This record gives sequence, structure tokens and C-alpha cells, in this order.
Amino acid sequence: MTFDLVLNGVRRTVQAAPGDSLMDLLRRLGCKSVKNGCDDGYCGACAVLLDGRAVNACLVFAARAAGHRVDTLEGLSREGVLHPVQRAALDLGAVQCGFCTPGIVMTALDLLARNPRPTEHEVREALAGNYCRCTGYVKPVEAILAAAAEMREAAE
Ligand code: FES
Ligand code: FES
Repeated sequence: MTFDLVLNGVRRTVQAAPGDSLMDLLRRLGCKSVKNGCDDGYCGACAVLLDGRAVNACLVFAARAAGHRVDTLEGLSREGVLHPVQRAALDLGAVQCGFCTPGIVMTALDLLARNPRPTEHEVREALAGNYCRCTGYVKPVEAILAAAAEMREAAE
């Protein structure tokens, strides 16, 4: 099937087989930040935004994105300037192997869009579906809280 979607702000006409997942489609389109950690909805490594809400792309049929907006990590930086969540993750040591990082960043964006002033508990709850085997979550949580503070300041 052929359909249109808006990927990282750009309208694209794409092709997918009926059983293709959104994860498979996005990786074929070059979005290699979308990681296949488990292919079964458990790890969050494939998290992307579908109309602004974080979804595990391995659980979503590609066709579900027809006519919708999809955002991945590839669309976050602007002219080489990282998004505050990306920069905080790097600056505060929240990235070790990095396999989980794109999914964590996209999940954080969903959280911060709905709740610009999350508590540490709320950040930890939001990350409950994102497995990280390296960091113990302390640094990613710190980075999201720091980015939230920076984004609030910038919005004032
Ligand atoms: Fe999608 Fe693990 S690859 S949740
Ligand atoms: Fe390695 Fe999270 S940094 S899995």
C-alpha cells in the first residue's frame, strides 16, 4: 500500500506491506534511531511520537501512520543545535551504550509536552516502559529534570 505521512515535519509518500510495523517502515526510511530492542513492546527502544504521543513503533502497524504526524530523534536538532533533552542527556552522562537513548528522549518529550514541571517520581513513571541496562536510570532522570527546567526558563 502507498500512503502519505508527515515524518519529522516533512510530508512523505511511502510504501508498506500490510503487516509492516511502523518501526520497520521508519528504519527503511533511514530513521536508524528507532531501535529494535525486543520487537514485542517491552523495551521502549523503538519509541517515537505519533501525533505527539509516545508509542512503541514495533507494536503499531505502519498503515496506522497514514495521514498522521510521526516524529523521531532524527527530527529534533535544529541546524545542528541539539534539543535540550538531547543536550542534557549528553552533558549529564545519561548516555552509556546509547541503545535506549532515542526511546528515552522521545518518551521524555511526550511527558514534558503534557507536564512541563514533572517530579522525579513522574519522570520515573514515564520511563517505566523504557529499559536501560547501563545507567541505572539516575542520570537519565536527572537529565530530563534539567531539560525540563531549561525549557521552562526558555518559555518564560
Ligand atoms: Fe519496540 Fe522493544 S523494540 S518495545
Ligand atoms: Fe545502554 Fe541505556 S545507555 S541501555
